Amino acid sequence: MKDPAQFAATAIRRLREQVPGKAIVAASGGIDSTAAAVLAHRALGDRAKALFVDTGLLRAHEVEHVEEFFRESQLPVTVVPAASRFLSTLEGVADPEEKRRRIGTAFVRLFEEEADRFGASQLIQGTIAPDWIESGGALRDTIKTHHNVGGVPKDVRIGIVEPLRDLYKDEVRMLAAHLAIPHPERQPFPGPGLAVRVAGPVTAERVETARAANAIVEEEVERAIAAGTISRPWQYFAVLLPVRTVGVMGDNRVYGEAVSVRVVDSNDAMTGTATDLPLDVRRRIAERITRSLSGTVTRVLYDITDKPPATIEWE
Ligand code: XMP
Repeated sequence: MKDPAQFAATAIRRLREQVPGKAIVAASGGIDSTAAAVLAHRALGDRAKALFVDTGLLRAHEVEHVEEFFRESQLPVTVVPAASRFLSTLEGVADPEEKRRRIGTAFVRLFEEEADRFGASQLIQGTIAPDWIESGGALRDTIKTHHNVGGVPKDVRIGIVEPLRDLYKDEVRMLAAHLAIPHPERQPFPGPGLAVRVAGPVTAERVETARAANAIVEEEVERAIAAGTISRPWQYFAVLLPVRTVGVMGDNRVYGEAVSVRVVDSNDAMTGTATDLPLDVRRRIAERITRSLSGTVTRVLYDITDKPPATIEWE
């Protein structure tokens, strides 16, 4: 993409050709799907309806933040509550690829129902190049089945339209700035949400633990950014590990779980470097997580692995 204005004009014209009737738009509050939603809104007006799914796998206060963000972007969005549906489809599932497939299917089935209700036969989503490349589109092996690509079931009943499929993240950020989307620097959040940040089995309790630990990581990293101690990393989050580890509370032994803190610098998510977060920030994160999740989380680790060899998310 050389010129975002030209890209936007072409994408709007193509959307009008591709969508003769109504379409729903999968909006996650992330930069990719928001850019797709803005293009859809400009191309189709009321014939496009943006939906934000509350999967129950979101970060703390995410629903309010996304609603606020859409207000700022002047885009109408409908929140679809679906937490119990996503949690139940993940019951007993520990394998990362199986989690991704089930989440992809749950999203599609829900979008099919919502499309029927709205009288739409198409779904517009903000898939970008790394999503399908890593889902096995260009590499020989599937690195990860992105929920919006490989996670889409074969018997899908709605047509899928992807206006950003050839863009990389830095290009989407340029486009977002051109479309006046607020906060284009926001960190990406994977569609499968906390399900892939709760390594191993997903339960409501483990999701809650990951959510609480993640909120602390975000607060402390954002505090360090605001203080000018570090520049804004690409992503910063907590992962709950399926590892029990011994701790001590007063005179008592506790047997809790471990949290890994992941902070990464990157330009396009295809490669990345573990951020050299100052030790005092790491210590404060560890101290706050073990105090506020006392007995549940007994150990905090800092992940210093680059991508490659590791991926950004643990699963
Ligand atoms: P990995 O973990 O593959 O992640 O190095 C690269 C970037 O993609 C995000 N990610 C996802 N985003 N659906 C998404 O929308 C997914 O299934 C998914 N998996 C990973 C990840 O947060 C990182 O920014």
